[in-house]
Amino acid sequence: MSITLPSNSKMLTPDFIFGVATAAFQIEGAAKADNRLPSIWDTFCATPGKVKGMDNGDIACDHYHLWEQDIQLIKELGVDAYRLSIAWPRVMNEQGEANQAGLDFYRNLLKKLKAEGLTVFVTLYHWDLPQHLEDKGGWLSRETAYRFQQYADLVTTEFADWVDSWATFNEPFCAAILGYELGIHAPGLNKPEYGRQAAHHILLAHGLALPIIRKNAPHSKVGIVLNMNRSYAASEKVEDQFACLLRETLDNQFFIEPLMKGQYPQLLKTVAPQYLPTVLPGDMEIISQPIDFLGLNFYTCNHNAYDADSLFKNVQSSQNVEFTDIGWEIAPQAFTELLVTLHQQYELPPIYITENGAACDDHIIAGEINDEQRVRYLDGHLNAVHRAIDAGVDIRGYFAWSLMDNFEWAEGYSKRFGLTYVDYHTQQRTIKRSGYAYQAMLNARIR
Ligand code: FCB
Repeated sequence: MSITLPSNSKMLTPDFIFGVATAAFQIEGAAKADNRLPSIWDTFCATPGKVKGMDNGDIACDHYHLWEQDIQLIKELGVDAYRLSIAWPRVMNEQGEANQAGLDFYRNLLKKLKAEGLTVFVTLYHWDLPQHLEDKGGWLSRETAYRFQQYADLVTTEFADWVDSWATFNEPFCAAILGYELGIHAPGLNKPEYGRQAAHHILLAHGLALPIIRKNAPHSKVGIVLNMNRSYAASEKVEDQFACLLRETLDNQFFIEPLMKGQYPQLLKTVAPQYLPTVLPGDMEIISQPIDFLGLNFYTCNHNAYDADSLFKNVQSSQNVEFTDIGWEIAPQAFTELLVTLHQQYELPPIYITENGAACDDHIIAGEINDEQRVRYLDGHLNAVHRAIDAGVDIRGYFAWSLMDNFEWAEGYSKRFGLTYVDYHTQQRTIKRSGYAYQAMLNARIR
């Protein structure tokens, strides 16, 4: 089993970049080192019942100390690019002043990545809000958007020279809806009206930061990363078709439409006005400023049926489908459909697939990890990207999630997404069969 793209695929030309991705809280550990402040995820992890096994990010993959060795791992995989995130609580104190020790860590890391010839994608916010800002209202407070602007200013001033591409946010849907509406991610709030207001403030923060990043880092690209699933209706029934439309609107359109068109979906006004946030004059213009790229994270699809109370509910596919270890349906065709549909709906900037991958129940046996399902997943999804490009979608790169197994949010360390296996007792990294398959595909390219 290998990863094989058609030999004439645009993805095999030098213009298309392949990478691996991680996020600060999921890999760094060293939670208290060098004056790092607590984040909402530290608090959430310490709250009983929130994270499986009460796992936390105190040690994680200890990347804070093992980063040089991890860069060699990235090199060994043969990728062109690395996507990481910066931890806000590491680099800024409560007064909004720089924390030099935290900045030093990232400066060394970024310099070395560039010295190794890698293209560097940095996400400013991958969910680890400083706890002191949550104490003042977090993303429910407009003020947090202005604090983010200051943080973005600091980081892009310091690191402009070593970063090729800046993303303001990773997955506003998860940060806002899972965190403030459904309560399954930090900060664990669950009021129906909270999620969309938090999302609006996150999008506002994105827009407020854009001109600052452009000024500080004129040679870098700047954009945002959205997660998107493909939604299907459980049946041909009108109610189920409606449920699907609403689900798709709330999960996908609610985030992409304000960015691309400066408005929230009109459908919500008539059928679900409770999902519309309070918007001040001028906000939508700030949010919809042009971006250089759109990052898309894709993992799965969903099936929806009408529900009298909540309007839609998740149901299982009626087909015989395969799932990954986290219970997500494997649906590469849905990936192509999603990309082609978005391309038809919007005038999109160039797209990067900033995350895609599978959780598998990996075991190390005689020093090897035979993650055959992940190899098939990657092969299927890379070919799905290829088909979307063939259909005219402007996709410039693909990042596998993830470089290595890591802290999978509410699932703790129980779910493994890495191309590399991490033994959390010894911190030993072992490249899985999928990592070698990715490496072989990359090395076979004619550069
Ligand atoms: C995405 C997150 C990423 C990772 C994957 C599995 O939603 O951005 O951090 O946890 O899911």
